[in-house]
Amino acid sequence: MGETGWINDPNGFCYFNGRYHLFYQYHPYSAQWGPMHWGHLTSTDLVRWEHRPVALAPDEPYDRGGVFSGSAIEKDGRLYLIYTGHIDDGGVIRQVQNIAVSEDGIRFAKCPGNPVIDASGLPKGASPADFRDPKVFEHDGVYYMVVASRAADGSGQVLLYRSPDLLHWTYAGTVARSENRLGEMWECPDLFRLGDTDILVVSAIHLPADGHRHNNLHSSIYMTGEMDLQQGRFVMKELDDLDGGFDFYAPQTMRATDGRRLLVAWMNMWESPMPTQQHGWAGQMTVVREVTLQDGRLHTCPVRELARYRRREVVVPETVVEGEHLPESVRGQQIDLEVTIDPGSASEAGIRVLEGPGEETVIGYNVAEGVVYFDRNRSGEGPGGMRKVPVTLRDGRLALRVLVDRISVEVFVNGGERALTGLVYPRQESDRVALFARGGAAHMSLRKWDIAVP
Ligand code: FRU
Repeated sequence: MGETGWINDPNGFCYFNGRYHLFYQYHPYSAQWGPMHWGHLTSTDLVRWEHRPVALAPDEPYDRGGVFSGSAIEKDGRLYLIYTGHIDDGGVIRQVQNIAVSEDGIRFAKCPGNPVIDASGLPKGASPADFRDPKVFEHDGVYYMVVASRAADGSGQVLLYRSPDLLHWTYAGTVARSENRLGEMWECPDLFRLGDTDILVVSAIHLPADGHRHNNLHSSIYMTGEMDLQQGRFVMKELDDLDGGFDFYAPQTMRATDGRRLLVAWMNMWESPMPTQQHGWAGQMTVVREVTLQDGRLHTCPVRELARYRRREVVVPETVVEGEHLPESVRGQQIDLEVTIDPGSASEAGIRVLEGPGEETVIGYNVAEGVVYFDRNRSGEGPGGMRKVPVTLRDGRLALRVLVDRISVEVFVNGGERALTGLVYPRQESDRVALFARGGAAHMSLRKWDIAVP
């Protein structure tokens, strides 16, 4: 969360001077989106975050309408932020790319040469009004960035730029396009490599639903494929959602010094009701996730450091569940759960969290449909709905990891093969956990820890 007010996209996720840094889209003056600043957090373990002074404010002619999303990279011992300046001249919108630099990772100076890319650097037909969210990386001593853009036909596209020094950029190709088929504008692109596969991530505005996929208003998707940095072109193989839940947008990744690919996303959705606004704030980040590629699909699971904060383990050894099982000792609103389910003769089996009179959040496995579902229709205040992801059992079993943090539920299936993230707004007393099986008997076990982040 921000210290106060509104937050959205994670920005500038990186490691610098012995700490992880996470910046974010921030409007400190109200619980609504407004002229964007970059809020700033640092951490040594990706779980406990410390608030730092606001890093960037909209105070220059080239970013006066807002300091929009971007990324970070270290060069010669200094931290460079690359962000979009949003300019609104009485309804005429322009977006340009700018740089800010820091010696200490806390105080940033905007470069005198800003903007480093403006409309004159756009390929023919691309809109100067939709040109944002640069994600920078280095390859073989050359800097690259992918940037979101809109083509003349309205289609979303990702552009590639190349630079020797982070200050001078040249257009190097159109990486991929939505062709007005995979959503409208593509926001917050990210490009990275896992093994010998390139992964392109975009957040697609109004991506049409396709079965169980893309059921939110906007969807963050990944494409596996091959990137040609010389030609500036990406050839796509597979495409899927990064998260099958309700509240997940604008993810950004970084490569940790130990080689792990880490991801964090805004845990919210544009245009969803946000009951926390009555309390002066809105928006939070997901837990940081480790990203791997297995059998051609992205897997995401909570960063391993989170396990250090597990306290007071409670174990429910394998039990036959038919109907309800409400272990008295398993409750809490800030908990980490591991559940195994062998559905046996049941048609549905799963777990209910944040349960109290008239309230429950249900995560279940439906045998006939072969899906894990997340049902928030009776979760309390806020929007309802159901999301489903296809899942295959492993040796007849399903493994769920469920992270509950007061108003958020993050579900990881079979070691991260699928993830479902959603916000729910239960009463403070709704803290019970129940196992359930319908239509027969299931074998289930559970381990629960309180998560205590001091
Ligand atoms: C994505 C986004 C970005 C933009 C930022 C503005 O959620 O729309 O494209 O830079 O939010 O806050």
